[in-house]
Amino acid sequence: MLLGNQIRLTPATPEDAPLIADWFGDPAYMGDYYNVWPTTRQEFAERFATPTGRDQGFLLIRDQATAQSMGTIGYWNPFTRAELFKGLELWWQVHPNFRGRGIATQAACLLVNHLFNSLPVERLQATIAIGNTASSRVAMGAGMQCDGVYRSVFFLHGRFVDLHLFAIVRGDWQDTPTYRQARCPF
Ligand SMILES: CC(C)(COP(=O)(O)OP(=O)(O)OC[C@H]1O[C@@H](n2cnc3c(N)ncnc32)[C@H](O)[C@@H]1OP(=O)(O)O)[C@@H](O)C(=O)NCCC(=O)NCCS
Repeated sequence: MLLGNQIRLTPATPEDAPLIADWFGDPAYMGDYYNVWPTTRQEFAERFATPTGRDQGFLLIRDQATAQSMGTIGYWNPFTRAELFKGLELWWQVHPNFRGRGIATQAACLLVNHLFNSLPVERLQATIAIGNTASSRVAMGAGMQCDGVYRSVFFLHGRFVDLHLFAIVRGDWQDTPTYRQARCPF
């Protein structure tokens, strides 16, 4: 478990599968910038029961005090040629009932800080559809900067759209005290 001031991040377990399957099948939860791809509770349960390596994670964002589930966050390796490119990619969602309270930004900061502390990873990135202002603000709140545009790379709602590539590198993070000082409290 990763402990923050207001939130905690816990790895998703098979017991979380019903909630996550319901959320990921709900267009209101996924928002305007994902294709909603219905997935069964069983598929999620099997996925969460399977041990993963250190280069991917699927976590629930929970209220620190009550443990109420508020969202999801995770990371994966987007590169297929490990000998050429290195880095991890983060993603996040917060349930509509809990948006606008800084939850996603705190979760992203907690995860960025944890990954730089715990893994010899040099670069953490997020790819965000142009127009997804809230998510872009989350990336910037976690210390990422915009590295550029991937043109026509993501198929969304019937057409290819452009993504912004955001990233923070280890040199930007430096260490936990420096990172905490530069970010909103998390
Ligand atoms: C993107 C998302 C995770 C943000 O969650 P959240 O907990 O509301 O985010 P925060 O409260 O930490 O807000 C982050 C910033 O976005 C801003 N913001 C929040 N909602 C916004 C909106 N609808 N439009 C514009 N800005 C918005 C906040 O004001 C804040 O800005 P600041 O850093 O300048 O203070 C949430 O809207 C969501 O789950 N969306 C659907 C899924 C999604 O798009 N995920 C990302 C895919 S790349």
